[in-house]
Amino acid sequence: MCGIVGAVAERNIAAILVEGLKRLEYRGYDSAGLALIDAHGALRRHRRPGKVSGLEQALAEEPLSGRVGIAHTRWATHGAPCERNAHPHFSGDDLALVHNGIIENHAPLRERLRGLGYTFTSDTDTEVVVHLIHHKLKELGDLTAALKSAVAELHGAYGLAVVSRHQPDRLLATRSGSPLVVGLGIGENFIASDQMALRQVTDRFMYLEEGDVAEIQRDRVQVWDAAGAPVTREVVQYHEGAEAADKGEYRHFMLKEIHEQPKVVQRTLEGRLGSDHVLAQAFGPQAAELFARVRNVQIVACGTSYHAGLVARYWLEGLAGIPCQVEVASEFRYRQVVVPADTLFVSISQSGETADTLAALRNAKARQGSGHAYLSSLAICNVGTSSLVRESDLTLLTQAGPEIGVASTKAFTTQLVSLLLLTLALGRVHGTLADGLEARLVDELRRLPSRLGEALAMDKTIEKVAEFFADKHHSLFLGRGTQYPVAMEGALKLKEISYIHAEAYPAGELKHGPLALVDADMPVITVAPNNELVEKLKSNLQEVRARGGELIVFADREADIENGEGTQVVAMPHIDDVLAPILYTVPLQLLSYHVAVLRGTDVDQPRNLAKSVTVE
Ligand code: F6R
Repeated sequence: MCGIVGAVAERNIAAILVEGLKRLEYRGYDSAGLALIDAHGALRRHRRPGKVSGLEQALAEEPLSGRVGIAHTRWATHGAPCERNAHPHFSGDDLALVHNGIIENHAPLRERLRGLGYTFTSDTDTEVVVHLIHHKLKELGDLTAALKSAVAELHGAYGLAVVSRHQPDRLLATRSGSPLVVGLGIGENFIASDQMALRQVTDRFMYLEEGDVAEIQRDRVQVWDAAGAPVTREVVQYHEGAEAADKGEYRHFMLKEIHEQPKVVQRTLEGRLGSDHVLAQAFGPQAAELFARVRNVQIVACGTSYHAGLVARYWLEGLAGIPCQVEVASEFRYRQVVVPADTLFVSISQSGETADTLAALRNAKARQGSGHAYLSSLAICNVGTSSLVRESDLTLLTQAGPEIGVASTKAFTTQLVSLLLLTLALGRVHGTLADGLEARLVDELRRLPSRLGEALAMDKTIEKVAEFFADKHHSLFLGRGTQYPVAMEGALKLKEISYIHAEAYPAGELKHGPLALVDADMPVITVAPNNELVEKLKSNLQEVRARGGELIVFADREADIENGEGTQVVAMPHIDDVLAPILYTVPLQLLSYHVAVLRGTDVDQPRNLAKSVTVE
């Protein structure tokens, strides 16, 4: 999704802005641009469709230099990804602006501004904002006052950064529904939509809150809150290793992140397990008291995070006896829902900035004080500074570290671990867990990182399986019980990075329709832990073989599923069935990865997708 970087310094900032944009490339975008105030006080810009490297090329051919400026990667929403729609947008020669998000009332504003004599050169919603600020500037004579007055008229979501050649010592920024962070340097300051963009210049950050306006100069940062009052926002020191944004020895971020899973699962468990139980305090100081009142759980999320929620429903109902509903956020947010009494609202998100998930949380909170309120809200999230975390009552942070590959991998497995911790914490408070279950699972969780290591060691075997797959156009993924959402996640991974059509079904549904698709060109991938459903699964596999379908089965060593004609079995380490969805995710990630590499797709930045979906 779109990215913003800006800087005010005493040195030429062109290279800093470009490096910042590169660090945001993982979010997905389709054009890039930058604008600087040059030594003569004039606004200069370059914009290019395509990658940041195209912008670098433009700078090599015609260098720009300046000490104040803004830059942007755009993911098209209004208007095609071409140069004239790329940011920064100008108003005359006076103002340059970059924008993340969507301005919903852009059409009436455009009409009004046209009436005032403004000419539009792009199809974007963003261009109305720069002209509106310009119009206000003529009335008010000060950029900060003009920005505050202009944003009061905007509906929608925005993170904005703006510079004016009339006040060339500063840049202005504001946010509502789209994140922005101020980076604090020594004698220089920065702005970005994600701190990752600024890690090369600072490790001290100030997170702007909803409605904040910030005026950023070389030696000072002033912030006003949504009501216009001056405020001081806390300065946070960032500790994540600088190597996080590096591929290291791996060919792709996705592969690196798949291989990080033992380490990050370990980290997600740290400080959260007692000798034989889960520490409820891990969810916040008031969690234990609150969990005792929870009688239902509503989970809301998107994409991969939604699949984690689906696994959690099996756990919450099957292990803790707590009724649980799971819904994709884009549906939930627009639906009239009936809220059962004492329902805990749980949102799951890697980024914590997904527009639909955030909107669902806000809708849930808006019910507070009504007869249909949620008891409380819990965010399971990977970004501690995200909007989702800040706006939820309770938080459990997944400790996956920055996830750069667009396809989510380590975020998913750490979400599953977190949701199992939640299940055990709730089950214990309510006394609904079977005798000895919590102690057994705590033990198994401690062993999980080494089990994940064993699954990763199967990489070479899975690479071979991928060779068989690479020229296929369609595939089916099957699973039963908790393995059904794992199959869904496997199908999502394959389609998003290899562009092979993949669908997932509960294995028992096969003969109710999808079996008609099965032939030698439709590989069927199955996950088969050794549990009470394995015999039923074997019958489903027979149904596939009888129709000439090719099977790839990731099966427990003890499940007694043999290699044979048309059946490739990859033997999996044995694991407690409760934890099986976490382990069986790994070979499916590796399979998708190797198939995508063989097909030559852009693994880390698949076409049409963005890492952080901050618009609807
Ligand atoms: C798929 C993927 C997406 C995200 C979804 C939600 O690999 O990454 O489906 O899971 O966009 O994102 P978060 O978890 O950031 O809310």
